[in-house]
Amino acid sequence: MNEVQKKEYKEKYLRAKRNGEKFFPDSLFRDMAVMFAIFLLLVGLAAFAGVPMEPRADPSDSAYIPRPEWYFLFLFQFLKFFPGSLEWVGTTIVPALAVLALLFLPFFDRNPARFWTKRKLAIPFMSVIVAGMVVLTVWAAITTPPQPESTQVATTLSARIDAGQNLYSVNCAECHGPDGEGGVIQGVKGLDGYKMKPINSQDEMYTRTDNTLNNIISYGQQNLGMPPFSKAYGGELSSDDISNIVTFMRYTWDNRVEKPKNVAQAGGIPVLGPNEIPNYDTNIAPIVTRYCVSCHRPGHENNNYMMGSYNDIMNTGDHKPNVVPGDLNSNLIRMLHRETINAGGPMPPTKALSPDLINIFERWVKAGAPEKASK
Ligand code: HEC
Ligand code: HEC
Repeated sequence: MNEVQKKEYKEKYLRAKRNGEKFFPDSLFRDMAVMFAIFLLLVGLAAFAGVPMEPRADPSDSAYIPRPEWYFLFLFQFLKFFPGSLEWVGTTIVPALAVLALLFLPFFDRNPARFWTKRKLAIPFMSVIVAGMVVLTVWAAITTPPQPESTQVATTLSARIDAGQNLYSVNCAECHGPDGEGGVIQGVKGLDGYKMKPINSQDEMYTRTDNTLNNIISYGQQNLGMPPFSKAYGGELSSDDISNIVTFMRYTWDNRVEKPKNVAQAGGIPVLGPNEIPNYDTNIAPIVTRYCVSCHRPGHENNNYMMGSYNDIMNTGDHKPNVVPGDLNSNLIRMLHRETINAGGPMPPTKALSPDLINIFERWVKAGAPEKASK
């Protein structure tokens, strides 16, 4: 800046100081420019950063701890000091006093100085408040951390069908069969020998709306032996989970509804090429989830054989090891072939797996039962 410019600037500044600044156009123009910049910033954030989806609100989930956005955490923490019937003190009285104090501050503090070191009352007063807000915010962040998301949010149709398939396999297959086909129940406490009608029939699908299915799963059919699944009735599934199961049932079993092309594979079991070596992660886990885990998990009758992970499959069970790498006489293989051995009867009890699936198990055991794909 040269001398002339400096002088001009100084004069302009003095003039403005003397006469004030016009609202129109000076102030207004500056406000508009800043508003426009913020607008562009917001549009940019919305387009490129976005907001992550959270699970849908679930009124039946009493374990959920509501937690405000970070800028309200200090109030959230503050409210914790006023439990139960004292809540109104924290929500109404204290904030009202704070606002009143701010309102009357100019009457107590008549100091005309503007430089901060000279404002002996206002600055310390505000500093204490800001420091308190920071402390409360950090405190809240530590004592009430964000909850881990219980379920991944499935948003696309194929993701929902997929999620529904897995939930069905784990929660329903032990009684209704892996494909809803029913049959004589075996290995389920209290229902052994019960002849289950199919729930995958057109009869069932045509006469039950999504809403009805939703209710049946939520409340169960307790007089007949089906437990409730909704968290609201003591089960373990959220309303999102239940609606994913209904979506899976509808798109898989109802012949009036066509699965969109891109979900034909949803919930599918990967096909194995003729020379490929199957491994647990890619090939075995999806079959086990679909056909075995509903009985082979804690709390179910299964000779203590857990099938939720590679380690469990290799190392648990009253007759372990049930999988001996390289040995086609392993319990698991013999039972898949519907033999009855000292470890128990054919597996799965009601209906044989298809030969292709049994073949995948055999090739896996023969190859040494690898956990992961070899490179
Ligand atoms: C412990 C066994 C058991 C489990 C687990 C179970 N059900 Fe059931 N379910 C039953 C019984 C028993 C009935 C009554 C069947 C009958 O009427 O023959 C039934 C009936 C049904 C019906 C038919 C109701 C009607 O009015 O037509 C549907 C649909 C159904 N269950 C869906 C499910 C789904 C989905 C799951 C998993 C979330 C599930 N069930 C889990 C035992 C079970
Ligand atoms: C409907 C419930 C049910 C399903 C589904 C099921 N099992 Fe079982 N499984 C049992 C029960 C019950 C036993 C205890 C033995 C018996 O009663 O025959 C058992 C025992 C076993 C054992 C012997 C464990 C030991 O150490 O004694 C193996 C191996 C086994 N199952 C494999 C499988 C495989 C593999 C699948 C899936 C393809 C499967 N099971 C699906 C109920 C089930």
